[in-house]
Amino acid sequence: MMTRGDQADNLRRMVREMRPHARVLAVTSGKGGVGKTNVAANLAIALCRSHRQRVVLIDADLGLANVDLMLGLQPQWNLSHVLSGERRLEDIVVQGPEGIEIVPGASGLSRLADLQDSQRRTLLEELSKLDHRADYCIIDTGAGIGRTVVSMASSADECIVVTTPEPPSIADAYAMLKIISRQPHRPQLRLLVNMVGSRQEARRVYERIAGVAQKFLGLHVHDAGYVFCDGHVARAVRGRKPFVTAFPNSQAAWCMRQVAERTAKPHAQDAAGEDAGRGFFKRVAGLFGAMT
Ligand SMILES: Nc1ncnc2c1ncn2[C@@H]1O[C@H](COP(=O)(O)OP(=O)(O)O)[C@@H](O)[C@H]1O
Ligand SMILES: [Mg+2]
Repeated sequence: MMTRGDQADNLRRMVREMRPHARVLAVTSGKGGVGKTNVAANLAIALCRSHRQRVVLIDADLGLANVDLMLGLQPQWNLSHVLSGERRLEDIVVQGPEGIEIVPGASGLSRLADLQDSQRRTLLEELSKLDHRADYCIIDTGAGIGRTVVSMASSADECIVVTTPEPPSIADAYAMLKIISRQPHRPQLRLLVNMVGSRQEARRVYERIAGVAQKFLGLHVHDAGYVFCDGHVARAVRGRKPFVTAFPNSQAAWCMRQVAERTAKPHAQDAAGEDAGRGFFKRVAGLFGAMT
């Protein structure tokens, strides 16, 4: 006899088979050091664990790639080998903790925008192969408003902009939203407030940024949730483990599960624009095509 669990599994499988493309979430920020990599990695694990989703985490911060360090992995190959043509993307994918898959990044490379056209094309062609591999592709894009980061962020289905409550971080998050608002494709935008002291503080920061974005840019910014400033995060990083795994009872882990819950909910209002539904990687290719 089929249990409710079996039925739920079947339903999930059916929905998965119907979905032509992975849902692509870009995690970005204006300012560096606000917690993007921690958010991307722990969200990937929370989605995989609690929601039984197939998740690929892509370390696309070509300046300061550190997903592998944070998760205690020592991959032999990374995106630099894909760019040089030595490896195909599917050959560099490694198993991460808790069932997620990882595309290791390449530190110290210049921004994609600075890469040669042929390298950029290689990378995009290879990335497009991930489209059917997972339910979610989570991209740690790196910080800043450079062309590569902005293209990745604006081509995703959803873009989670991470900020802290500090004024410089808020100003840079707003600058990022402003730049995304001018792109041809606009993803669903979400704001995550990291390192907060209280729920009220998170609410104030969200309302301030969302209010200004609505008023001056006509942008609807969804609330992705918040994460408390929690010493367990740094301890987990030092131990090279994701905090949702190392300290599942910490405040930060609780917050991250809430963020995953919100992320996994179906959205009434999906990515807008004529390119919606074409798939992330085709959109990126279109963007780069238009640029080159
Ligand atoms: N919620 C948090 N509470 C406490 N420390 C945090 C939190 N999130 C991130 N950190 C710390 O901030 C630093 C930067 O985090 P990281 O995820 O590498 O940021 P980014 O990828 O944006 O540069 C790390 O040392 C991490 O320990
Ligand atoms: Mg980072």
